Formats: sequence, structure tokens, C-alpha cells
Amino acid sequence: MDKIWKIGLVGAGRGSSYGNITYRHARFDVVALCDANENTLARYQKELELSDSQCFTDYEKFINSGSMDAVIICTPILYHAEQAVMALESGINVMSEVTASNTIEGCSSIVKAAKKSGKIYMMAENTIYRPVFDEWAKLIESCKLGEIIYAEADYLHPIHALLIDPNTGEKKWRANRPPVHYCSHSLGPILYLTGDRITRAMAVGNTYRILPEAGVGAADIQLAVFETEKNMIIKMTRTQVAPRHYPIHYYHLLGTEGFVETDRFGPDRDTRMQKGLLYLKNDMKHTQLAEWPEIDTSLPDYALLGGHGTCDYSTLLQFLNALDSGKKPVLDEIRAWDMTVPGLIAAESAFHDGKWMDVPLPE
Ligand SMILES: NC(=O)c1ccc[n+]([C@@H]2O[C@H](COP(=O)([O-])OP(=O)(O)OC[C@H]3O[C@@H](n4cnc5c(N)ncnc54)[C@H](O)[C@@H]3O)[C@@H](O)[C@H]2O)c1
Repeated sequence: MDKIWKIGLVGAGRGSSYGNITYRHARFDVVALCDANENTLARYQKELELSDSQCFTDYEKFINSGSMDAVIICTPILYHAEQAVMALESGINVMSEVTASNTIEGCSSIVKAAKKSGKIYMMAENTIYRPVFDEWAKLIESCKLGEIIYAEADYLHPIHALLIDPNTGEKKWRANRPPVHYCSHSLGPILYLTGDRITRAMAVGNTYRILPEAGVGAADIQLAVFETEKNMIIKMTRTQVAPRHYPIHYYHLLGTEGFVETDRFGPDRDTRMQKGLLYLKNDMKHTQLAEWPEIDTSLPDYALLGGHGTCDYSTLLQFLNALDSGKKPVLDEIRAWDMTVPGLIAAESAFHDGKWMDVPLPE
């Protein structure tokens, strides 16, 4: 019989997405829950049908409860590294929300702890598992786009209420996050599809006209440019305050033989299709309209409870595969570094007038 993996979940905000699907999946048993906020903890405890002894406000006690094979970390980014490292050092496998950490030191500590422990670390970059990118992967594998020379990955999402609490006026943790720090939803699919890594970064965007009281998280917009090992140029724009409704992720790959891009509306909410454009020099006279599914219909209905179409569920399946096989997931600690550190360096560059800066390799 297949092993049932005992899961601990920390952070019951976004964590409820992974909780909802893990709880219903036959190969997982949610055995412990941690949230620093007692009310949030109590609310989600009920939904997961956990006893008081399975619920914790203190992370160290939760980890030391000795009950779990793996932890799913869904706390604010500033806690990811210390929580991942503590779990790995206790012999517990980790799936962590994005991004890996808000500091290079944090990313480095994750790489070291994963190596030393031999346990699985996976960064849950869910956008990679959007079905549209399965289709784009086929285009790349068939060499129909040629060599990828340029990519764009914009993520425009005003989140005023997540920067400053509208009831209390208090700043929240995202107010301290420069927009380009949150880069893995943008860079993740590009680096995954091309198997590339970023070597240099620069960014501009250090003005605060829209929500000045929120601080660095409220930079009007930041534009980053990256260069990669395979000589690709990537352009990424990020805002957490500028008006954009609906919020969008926009992706574009330009190769020596053609291009593919998503439209700037985002997935159609009725048809659950993502529209875009495709041009393959050797197959087409002109650019054609294209569309790709947003939902993987082969998955169970409850897969939608994760949110983000079915891609949260598909991300969880990647973690399950890694746990079952004991092999590193595609999004292991090194790829987590590759998809996180360029944003940290780009933010530094934006504070230094757009100076080009090298992106280090993990030690
Ligand atoms: N992949 C995605 O699509 C996606 C979407 C949303 C959020 N996220 C990520 O999920 C994470 C959580 O985001 P959120 O919006 O739920 O944040 P949040 O601020 O709502 O916090 C989540 C929960 O963590 C709890 N918490 C805070 N500090 C804690 C600690 N030290 N120990 C235990 N619990 C603690 C809070 O009480 C809260 O209930 C972030 O890393 C964010 O980037 C990812």
C-alpha cells in the first residue's frame, strides 16, 4: 500500500488553499496546524477537524511535536527561511510558499540545510503548473520557436489592503517588500521552460505617488531587466499599487524562429481559457490567435479548491512525487534560489539608480 504522508501546515491564510486539497487527497493526512494568530488557528482547526493537541501557535513546538513527515509553509515570506531550516534540521521535508526568502542569507541557509539534511525542499511556484505552460513546453521541445532570445513576464496586481490594513491603518508585511522581490511568479515559468538561470540584474522604479505611506512595497512600478547564462534578456514589470483590473500576469517568449505570448486580459473567467498570440516562422504566414486551457480537466473536481485554477493542486502533486521517489523536485532549493535571488538583487539595483549587479550562485 502507498504511504500516506503526514503533513503539518503552517500559516492558515494562503495555507488554507493547500490545506483544502491536502485534506481531501488520499495520500496525505493533515496531522498538525500552526498559526501565530489564535483566532485564525481556531477557525481553520474546525475545517480540518483537528484536536486541540494538534494545533499550535508556536512553530518550534509544532515542529517538535514529532507527528509529521512534511511541512507546508504558508507564512509571510520573512519567516520562510527560518521555518524551512528548522524543519529540515529536524528531518522534516518542506514545501514552502513563494518566494524562498526575503534575503540572500535566508536563501543560502535553505540551500545548506537541504543539502545537509538530505530531505526534500520544494518551493511551491504554482504558476509553472498552469496548463498553458505545458503547451509552451511542447513548442520549445519541438524547437519551433528556435533559441529563446527574449522573454517578458509582467505581474501587475494592486494590493493596497495587503500593504496597509484599511481598518487600523497599520502597515502589513507586504509594505516592506519591494515589488520586484516577488518575482518567482514571473521568472519561474520563463526559467523553467528554458532551463536557464539569471546572471545579471538591473531595475529602476523608486517613486511613490500612489500610496506613499506604504513605503518600499508601494513603489509605483518597478521594471527589471535580467540577463541569463544562455544569453536571453528578460524584462519584468511589477507593481503592487498601480491600477490594473483584473490583475494580470503577462508572459512572452521570443525565439529565433517565432514567438508566443499571453494576452493582456488574463484567463477568461467564463471559458477558463487563456488567449494569446503565436507565430512560428516556418509554419505560419502571419501571427495567429491562440488559446490554451487554464484548467487541467483530468484532475478531480476538488483540485479547484486550491485556487489558481488547478495549478495549486498540480504543484502539490509535484511535492507528492518528490516525497514518494525521494528524488529532488524540479523546484528544489537551487531552483528556488534561481527564482528568488534575482528579484532581491534587482531591488538593490533599483535603490542604486539601476546599476547592473551580478546574481551570485549559491555556495
Ligand atoms: N503562490 C501563490 O499564488 C500565493 C498566493 C498568496 C500568497 N502566497 C504566499 O503565501 C504566503 C502567505 O501569504 P498570506 O497572504 O496568507 O499571508 P498572511 O499575512 O495572511 O499570513 C498568513 C498566516 O500566517 C500567520 N503567521 C504569521 N506569522 C507567523 C509565524 N511566524 N508562525 C506561524 N504563523 C504565522 C498569520 O497569522 C496568518 O494567518 C506568503 O509567502 C505569500 O507570498 C502565495
